[in-house]
Amino acid sequence: MRLAWRFLLPLGLVLGLLAWAASPLLGNLIDRWLRKDVELRSQLVFYSIEETVIRLAQEPLGLRLDTLFERLTRDERLLAVGLCAPDGRLLNHTPTWPLALACPPPPAPAPTLLAPQAPLTAPTFDIEYLGDGSLLIASFPLAEEGRDLGRLVILHDLSYIERRSTDLERYLMLFLGVLGVLVAALTAVVARLTLKGWVRQVKQRLTTAGSGAEPDRAADPEIDALVREAREALRELELPRGLADAIRVDWTPESLRRLLRSELPEAQVIVVSNREPYIHVRGDEGQMQVQHPASGLVTALEPILRACGGTWIAHGSGDADPAMVDGRDHVQVPPEDPRYELRRLWLSDAEQEGYYYGFANEGLWPLCHIVFVRPTFRAEDWARYEAVNRKFADAVVAEARVPNPVVLVQDYHFALLPRFIRQRLPEATIITFWHIPWPNPEVFGICPWREEILRGLLGSTILGFHTQFHCLNFLDSVDRLLECRIDREHSTATTGGQVTLVKPYPISIAWPPAALAGQPPVAACRAQVRAAHGLAPDSLLAVGVERFDYTKGIADRFRAVECLLDRHPEWRGRFTLLQIAAPSRSRLPSYRHTQEEALALATTINQRFGRDDWVPILLVPRHHEPEEVFTLFRAADLCLVSSLHDGMNLVAKEFVAARDDEDGVLVLSAFAGVSRELQEALIVNPYDSEAMAAAIHRGLRLPPDQRRERMRLMRSLVSEHNVYFWAARMLLTAARLRKRARIRAQIDAVTRPFPRDRRREARR
Ligand code: F6P
Repeated sequence: MRLAWRFLLPLGLVLGLLAWAASPLLGNLIDRWLRKDVELRSQLVFYSIEETVIRLAQEPLGLRLDTLFERLTRDERLLAVGLCAPDGRLLNHTPTWPLALACPPPPAPAPTLLAPQAPLTAPTFDIEYLGDGSLLIASFPLAEEGRDLGRLVILHDLSYIERRSTDLERYLMLFLGVLGVLVAALTAVVARLTLKGWVRQVKQRLTTAGSGAEPDRAADPEIDALVREAREALRELELPRGLADAIRVDWTPESLRRLLRSELPEAQVIVVSNREPYIHVRGDEGQMQVQHPASGLVTALEPILRACGGTWIAHGSGDADPAMVDGRDHVQVPPEDPRYELRRLWLSDAEQEGYYYGFANEGLWPLCHIVFVRPTFRAEDWARYEAVNRKFADAVVAEARVPNPVVLVQDYHFALLPRFIRQRLPEATIITFWHIPWPNPEVFGICPWREEILRGLLGSTILGFHTQFHCLNFLDSVDRLLECRIDREHSTATTGGQVTLVKPYPISIAWPPAALAGQPPVAACRAQVRAAHGLAPDSLLAVGVERFDYTKGIADRFRAVECLLDRHPEWRGRFTLLQIAAPSRSRLPSYRHTQEEALALATTINQRFGRDDWVPILLVPRHHEPEEVFTLFRAADLCLVSSLHDGMNLVAKEFVAARDDEDGVLVLSAFAGVSRELQEALIVNPYDSEAMAAAIHRGLRLPPDQRRERMRLMRSLVSEHNVYFWAARMLLTAARLRKRARIRAQIDAVTRPFPRDRRREARR
């Protein structure tokens, strides 16, 4: 209907204008035609009665002439007829002859200047209009044998001409109007049919693209060209990703900043995580201290926010946090050089209990890590988890200054958050990153709220995991448990019109890492650490750096050390494992048990092999700041990462980054995501103490050139695939999807179905 009006209205207007402009011209034309017609009729009348008039005019009384004249005027348009003498007197006339009208003067003789000797031309008839043109006077010369007998004058009433031309104008306007409507209606029908066919073809060609289906052979070449252009525009959007993958770019804070500026100009970046990057705590004497949490997530995201600015929303967990924020709960960080703002959210003890300790860490954490710790699901924990996710959604909405911010949702604490944000900021680009593994559908299926969790995550625009394996597990879970369309080729899941791209983005660390700056040379670090722990200067040192978590396999690596000392007694007194472990989630029994088990095992092994001047295992259960950790890495001969299951494990990458001397050996669990990337490590099964002991033994004896070669390769990988690269890939994908959505919206605006078709589609 709207389309018909679009045609009808302008066409009607144009035709109306045309008729309006043309009507005076037409009136004029008609007027002239009719007058000409009357002139001809006068002539015809004259020629038909000329002889009779000449004859009757010569009769004495002229009675018969009067009768003739009277008969002539029975034609209503012929007003009067009169006979004028050669001297201009009116001799005979009908009673209708206007009294005031005298005989018209005889016509002027024809000019004779050019041909004076030429015979006189016969006098011609004369036409004259009187009044406002409504009276025509036609006077015809009467002559017999060269004798002038006067003139016959015929008067015509022309008032009917005006009436008729007005009528004609009206009919003409009406005709043009009807014609216009008919033409417009016909045009609208033809245009609608053409457009429908066109839309169908464009849609068909766009949807068959890449699906392998045969395109419609009958497609118009113009449609072909249009579809080609649209596809090219969409393909161009693929380029940045291709470039990021194919071309060796040195990803730095600056290149990431440039990327954001060029690909996502004016995008507002909001990060949401449970753990905050800076924790303000009070020291023993009440003094303010800033802690950097032992968190892979913080290690990865902090450099990005430093580089690009934005807002980081997180739980304010430090006892001094409330004292440091402004009236809107914001604090500028890093404290020594503010680059972005941290928005702290306060959680009550009950909220932390249910959401963080309960559902996140006793439910999802053991569910996703296959380490044979039974997940605990409590309805009240779930309710808290949902409520806290809503609370964070409120904070995101409050912080959003634009309708389409780029929101980076972090980790298993916020499985419901993407959907909650999507409901309130439908245009947001939500990039969710799941930092831990995703189990197979059988394991995931034991969660009582499995559908809600999947639906929550599918509110994301992009959902990232560390490995392809976890992406496939997720898609399998969705496939098994939800009504959803999965496109494995493009790695997308579509539900309720929301398309979620599910992709692996292996996380990494800043390169070079901030904690490396100011580190003493490796030799100095070796000496310093050995002295600090009472080790012989030439003793070989392995380090382990962890949170105290049962997924990290701390006890397993102690068992491997025990096995090593059993199998290779030559290491007794010469080799030490220095394990630092930050206490974590200690309120949970499983975590307390992990700590107790590790402490007990270390004690047993130390008692078994230890001597007065040496113990094989040094366990330091406290938090270490990044600089201390890096000094340890540089001091070590070997780093042990023996996670029983781990999404990525950034400790392995940090060890590699710390070794700018290109030395040191990494013994790495096959069950940590990072083992897919750092293949030059000595890869082990942490459940197999013998194999791990053998790997340690091999690592301690590895020739320097082999150590160097392996370390070089690992360093080149981490330096290239650093955390800026990780962020760049996700942001480039997000930028591409935003552009693609914009193009699709433009195509849709052009090819949007007609209202009636929409109604039909809705009914279907
Ligand atoms: O590994 C998952 C994870 O969330 C990491 O991203 C982070 O390093 C760690 O757990 C921190 O745990 P929490 O915040 O509970 O101390």
